[in-house]
Amino acid sequence: MNKDAVIYQDLEKILVTKEEIAQKVAELGRRITMDYVGKEPVMVCILKGAALFFADLIREIDLPVTTDFMAISSYGSATKTSGVVRVLKDLDKDILGKDVIIVEDIVDTGVTLNYLRSMLVHRGASSIRIAALLDKTARRTVKDLKVDYVCFDIPDAFVVGYGLDYDQVYRNLPDIGVLSPRIYGE
Ligand code: IMP
Repeated sequence: MNKDAVIYQDLEKILVTKEEIAQKVAELGRRITMDYVGKEPVMVCILKGAALFFADLIREIDLPVTTDFMAISSYGSATKTSGVVRVLKDLDKDILGKDVIIVEDIVDTGVTLNYLRSMLVHRGASSIRIAALLDKTARRTVKDLKVDYVCFDIPDAFVVGYGLDYDQVYRNLPDIGVLSPRIYGE
């Protein structure tokens, strides 16, 4: 898809290009490979937003990883999280005694990941780390949430692309961009 494509016209600007994403994801894959030598981590993809990041990241990890998927929804408007998290699809496998890496698209207030992390701790994972593609640190309300691996720190703006959506659209944009406020009426 090139930058003249129709869905690119709804972006205010491109924040991270697909080349920058590929480079950072490869770096992160190498880091995880080194950090988990001798282990077989369970990579947990948080659907749907992390799907593209997850698919690219696991292919950069040189370890016998296993994969599992979880779908959650946070109630709220399309551009703001409310803090209430609901599990729509749970993991298929037990994680008792496993080294788990949660793979998420973006950390905003941190409410979603904080909830997820405590849920997986209660299930007896032997370790849990969080890998996030994007981090809006300025918006964090859960102060003690540790995000172990982050590809990009971004400013407080609503972004779409590379898996991230607005109202389920724009996930297929190869780059990550700031959505034009005219799209969501602000
Ligand atoms: P948190 O619970 O406030 O950290 O929100 C995290 C979730 O909100 C993410 O998994 C996304 O689904 C969604 N989200 C937050 N900011 C954005 C954004 O800029 N674009 C798309 N989704 C977002």
